[in-house]
Amino acid sequence: MYNLCILVSLALFIGLVHSFDWDIVVGKSRELEFYYNGALTHTEEIRSANQIHTISYDPVNYRVLMVDYTYPNVSISSFDLTTRKIQPLLMRDANGYYNARVVFEPVTQLFFRKNDPYIYSSKLSPASSDIVDETLLVKLDHVCLDIAVDSCGGYIYWITHHTIERARLNGSGREVLIEDKVYDRRSLTVDQQTQKIYWTEKVHESTNSMIFIKSANLDGKNITILYTVGNDIYATSLAVTKDFIYWQQFTDMGIFQLPKSPSQKKPRKLISTYISTCVYCRRVATNYRIEEQIQGIQNCEGAQAAKTSTITNHRTFCKNLSLVL
Ligand SMILES: *[C@@H]1O[C@H](CO)[C@@H](O)[C@H](O)[C@H]1NC(C)=O
Ligand SMILES: *[C@@H]1O[C@H](CO)[C@@H](O)[C@H](O)[C@H]1NC(C)=O
Ligand SMILES: *[C@@H]1O[C@H](CO)[C@@H](O)[C@H](O)[C@H]1NC(C)=O
Ligand SMILES: *[C@@H]1O[C@H](CO)[C@@H](O)[C@H](O)[C@H]1NC(C)=O
Repeated sequence: MYNLCILVSLALFIGLVHSFDWDIVVGKSRELEFYYNGALTHTEEIRSANQIHTISYDPVNYRVLMVDYTYPNVSISSFDLTTRKIQPLLMRDANGYYNARVVFEPVTQLFFRKNDPYIYSSKLSPASSDIVDETLLVKLDHVCLDIAVDSCGGYIYWITHHTIERARLNGSGREVLIEDKVYDRRSLTVDQQTQKIYWTEKVHESTNSMIFIKSANLDGKNITILYTVGNDIYATSLAVTKDFIYWQQFTDMGIFQLPKSPSQKKPRKLISTYISTCVYCRRVATNYRIEEQIQGIQNCEGAQAAKTSTITNHRTFCKNLSLVL
């Protein structure tokens, strides 16, 4: 941890980190596009990729994680913003599933990887380019569209068409938080700052279907409609920053931005872009710094009960990180 802080401060010192500004990154088939306030600030060509299906951001190590899917293979690689290097993390896995996902969890330093019908945790490293110490955490009952971690509380969340569920980071204590006859749920994210989960869902109303952006407390209670998208094919790739919620729409092609605080009722079409019609992909990730995520959060959900050293470590680590920054 301490070494990492030194590395980070060194990198900052020599000006390698944040050499271009960005608040969201968009994965295209073989490119990452970085945007700041809706303007393109950097394009990175990912030559080794065939079809980037999923991206996520690891704000501790400043890297974009990419899941590349070309039937029947899935591979995972990272683009390191400090070194500008692309590193393979998992080589071709011929049993890949088209909606595979990967997220990095800072407290355990593990990758949480979903390849239907399983969620695993593992230590993927550039050195091995293969699966090391993989643990099978959850066998899913339904097709799973997205996963997210709650580092403070120590949970992995996942979303299926009809449910939102969670389990401890070791797979124990599995619980269904939300279950109903919603037609389709697609994208999920956890926000430490607001202590909420956010997701997109599609509801059939007679001949019409309606899309919603919703939120709830981390225990699934207090479900709130944040925005009614209306009629679209899907809303996917939901992601948050300190102030905003982002998602991708298909009929009204583009990436949309809505303030987290319900001050503004209409979203802004931030980027008018054709990403592809891939409705199970997750191709938007946000630059949401750890210190922004935990700023002012005194009691994380579950912290009192757990009081584990990892949570304390996480807090100290993040405090250290914000001191450095
Ligand atoms: C999938 O992986 C196998 C084994 O590594 C490889 O032989 C094959 O060419 C790959 N297929 C595609 C479409 O990338
Ligand atoms: C799994 O994690 C929870 C919460 O951190 C802990 O209480 C439990 O003992 C762990 N279970 C195992 C089998 O390690
Ligand atoms: C329920 O959610 C709304 C909107 O996010 C929030 O303003 C309110 O404080 C929440 N209520 C409870 C009891 O958590
Ligand atoms: C935070 O920094 C202090 C002093 O620099 C160090 O002793 C401690 O190990 C660090 N903690 C973590 C979790 O990085």
